[in-house]
Amino acid sequence: MVVRAVVTGTGHYLPERVVENAEFEKTLDTNDEWIRARSGIERRHFAAEGETTSQMATCAARNALKDAGLQPSDIDAIVLATSTADFTFPSAATMVQAELGMENGFAFDVQAVCAGFAYALANANALIISGQARRVLVIGAETFSRIMDWTDRSTCVLFGDGAGALVLEAQDGQGTPADRGILSTDLNSDGRYRDLLYVDGGVSTQSTGVLRMQGNKVFRHAVEKLAKTAEKALEKAGLTPADVDWIVPHQANIRIIQGTAQKMGVPMEKVVVTVQDHGNTSAASIPLALSVGRERGQIKQGDIVVTEAIGGGLAWGAVVIRW
Ligand code: ACO
Repeated sequence: MVVRAVVTGTGHYLPERVVENAEFEKTLDTNDEWIRARSGIERRHFAAEGETTSQMATCAARNALKDAGLQPSDIDAIVLATSTADFTFPSAATMVQAELGMENGFAFDVQAVCAGFAYALANANALIISGQARRVLVIGAETFSRIMDWTDRSTCVLFGDGAGALVLEAQDGQGTPADRGILSTDLNSDGRYRDLLYVDGGVSTQSTGVLRMQGNKVFRHAVEKLAKTAEKALEKAGLTPADVDWIVPHQANIRIIQGTAQKMGVPMEKVVVTVQDHGNTSAASIPLALSVGRERGQIKQGDIVVTEAIGGGLAWGAVVIRW
């Protein structure tokens, strides 16, 4: 008998304001056709003035708790993936804990940029299988609109804001790939590539800074590293790409999503795609896509779901879940 971290609830939140590609034509030398063709993005949501990462995370968490039929007091821990926490500290996770009215348990943030949700899932899984926690809220939430250079057409058209959340609960399994829950995780980083994607501010500069990216160089790393980490995670779980029901990738660029699926030999009918409506929401993109994928009726109990993501660091990883 082994303990497995089983997904028992999903939820998400998107800010009200929707910005279509055409809006950027007013202020930048860009157009809807370029953005669609190069990235697959058609629109994205931007947080309202004063709307914060922890507020969006709290909304997503409430929706996931409702889906799981649980109260905040049932939760032992909150793991929140974000690179855009409201403040340098405390963590956004502790702010969510307070907003939910949780007086028990513990909460912390995980920062691995766009790979953040894979890292958060791996951490939450470790807390559950080690017996430290039985029920964990795993959240990805971002307000990347606050770290954009609005004069840089090569980055500001790509990102969006939002939040997604999962509830993970400890359940007994047999230790085989037939078990429900997280079956394997695979995490990687290589700090030598830090200059490809970073924010040029922070505590050491006493400014928030804006995102800088050498997009085409990140692109070249993405497909190869994503397919490799997904295949490694599947192998650890005792599975192959032929067993996959759904790939739920980080939603950065439709061409990366298609390239990775093709490299793995998985048809696009088995890929959950939300990039057209959300843009790149960094650590929020996978839990958003998982929640939307469930709402659409794509992901069902018993399905093998593979999530994979890459981002600043570079940091990348994959998680295999039997839903
Ligand atoms: N509108 C019109 N033209 C543009 C725009 C725009 N919005 N942005 C760039 N261009 C131009 C460039 O200036 C360049 O022109 P030039 O040839 O005259 O110099 C041309 O388009 C091609 O630029 P590339 O950067 O080579 O275009 P590419 O096909 O690589 O697409 C993109 C750019 C969409 C950024 C792509 O490289 C990409 O998706 N990269 C990966 C991003 C990613 O996955 N990041 C990781 C996650 S993010 C995170 O961790 C926070």
